[in-house]
Amino acid sequence: MVVSLDDDFNFLVRKISKSSGIVLTGYRDSYLKRRIDLRMKAVGMNNYALYRGLLEKDQHEMKEVINMLTVNVTEFMRDKTPFMFFREELLPDIMERKIQCKSNIVRFWSAACSYGEEPYSIGISSREVLPEDWTVSIYATDIDEKCLKGASQGIYSREQLKNLDPPLVMKYFEPSGEDFKVKNIRKLSIRFQKHDLTSEPPISRHFDAVFCRNVMIYFNESQKIKMLNDFYNALSDDGYLIIGKSETLPVEIRELFAPVSIREKIFKKV
Ligand SMILES: C[S@@+](CC[C@H](N)C(=O)[O-])C[C@H]1O[C@@H](n2cnc3c(N)ncnc32)[C@H](O)[C@@H]1O
Repeated sequence: MVVSLDDDFNFLVRKISKSSGIVLTGYRDSYLKRRIDLRMKAVGMNNYALYRGLLEKDQHEMKEVINMLTVNVTEFMRDKTPFMFFREELLPDIMERKIQCKSNIVRFWSAACSYGEEPYSIGISSREVLPEDWTVSIYATDIDEKCLKGASQGIYSREQLKNLDPPLVMKYFEPSGEDFKVKNIRKLSIRFQKHDLTSEPPISRHFDAVFCRNVMIYFNESQKIKMLNDFYNALSDDGYLIIGKSETLPVEIRELFAPVSIREKIFKKV
């Protein structure tokens, strides 16, 4: 039997998938190869079969490669302008619609929230715009439990807060050693929950906006389409979808979402 390089790679991916519980079939091959190659280079290897052998006996290396596959880079108000648009355009519009239907509850989903900077940014923006007696409920999900644990503690460095205006830092954070801790976390009503966008149905429905930024870039086309259909079903009528600045909607899905701001990558459920 001849074993090709692709077979070795696929065996390796299956091994990682089985150990981590992450369904890797939805990720782009080029992304998986690039990230696994980086890890192999770090341990001085260039052979997928041998690397699989190493993973079988070295739990630490298994953790390292899983970390490498779930890139957690993020910051408060990442890219800044989509969050300004959210605050200045979307929140007033959502508020007006809620008033018309005599509701004072708004619901958001931060899908792939990493260490929590995105859901806290959503919570802070909402508290700044919406009346005090309104309920803002935020679901914040990620596949990575380590991120969710960090997120629920709400402690961030000065660098991570650099996009937040200083008065907001003063208002929503308190010093914690050299870092800053979110004040009164419970008031922001963020529910952190483990959720895999590739294999699980939406966590809930009737969201006024879904933020899913900077994770779709790692998924293949069919995975993107599955996930965007899920978001469509999870949004209320006229709900908003906010994706990452470098991401695009696949053509197959474009009739489900109308652009609100092409520049900020904000769409509305049709
Ligand atoms: C680059 S971060 C993006 C964080 C934030 N949304 C932002 O834009 O700053 C990507 C996040 O996606 C998460 N992720 C990767 N695959 C996922 C999946 N299948 N389901 C849910 N989250 C996933 C990673 O754990 C990571 O925290």
